[in-house]
Amino acid sequence: MHVGITTLSDNSADFGFLAEWGLSLLIDIDGFKVLMDTGMGVSTVHNARLLDVDFTGLDAIVLSHGHIDHTGGLMGVLRLSGPKKVVAHPDIWKPRFSSRSHPGGRGIGTPYSRKEYERNGASFVLSRDPVRLAENVITSGEVPMRTEYEKLDEGLFYEESPGERRPDPFNDDLSLAIKTGRGLIVVLGCAHRGPVNIMRHLCKVTGEDHVYGVVGGTHLVRADDERIQNTINDFKELKIRKVVCSHCTGFKAAAMMADAFGDRFIFNKAGMRLVFDIE
Ligand SMILES: [Fe+2]
Ligand SMILES: [Fe+2]
Repeated sequence: MHVGITTLSDNSADFGFLAEWGLSLLIDIDGFKVLMDTGMGVSTVHNARLLDVDFTGLDAIVLSHGHIDHTGGLMGVLRLSGPKKVVAHPDIWKPRFSSRSHPGGRGIGTPYSRKEYERNGASFVLSRDPVRLAENVITSGEVPMRTEYEKLDEGLFYEESPGERRPDPFNDDLSLAIKTGRGLIVVLGCAHRGPVNIMRHLCKVTGEDHVYGVVGGTHLVRADDERIQNTINDFKELKIRKVVCSHCTGFKAAAMMADAFGDRFIFNKAGMRLVFDIE
């Protein structure tokens, strides 16, 4: 089995590529092509051009949640890809805010309406449950919060009705599992519901008992040392062989992971191509 993951957008970039806060990963599973997230703005399309990526060949687009750093590039991708299936959770259009940077709360939600994306070729599959994209590829659906130490980010909100802001529960936080002969490859967006909760949930959904590789954002950027250490301990318990974390992982968590996993840790960047060839 061949799984290739090309990072089109990330907070950091390899030589010659554009860095931008956000995430977009092009995943090729034995020729089945999924775009997981679309970055914040211009970097996904810009870097895709440098890498000769042809978006018309995509089989599906998955949006991990309704934050602009994951959905902001969707319109640009659709203009190049033509009509595509877009898999996400129905809550991705809830207005989203961050209390950081601006005291009144800065809007950080999906930038266009469903109708505008549909006019540009998106056909949405919106589901609270796991969606099977291909034989060995499935989305998580809603992830139950079970670990004691993985908490939601208290600086992030959604608007229930105009002016009524509530802490964001991130019901829409989706991840992806690829079933391989050596365990799951889990692809995270921001992991707002906690990377360990997500991986344990995906093991349950797929009937696997361990995770071969994890790729994406872990949202440990504001976590204390204790939470980071607990996460690392549980990654070890899941027997993860490849830890490829970036985006909202943050410098400290990435450094602690690099220390804990050595050569098994990769700090991912825009422009990098990862290849998992699994017997
Ligand atoms: Fe993010
Ligand atoms: Fe996010």
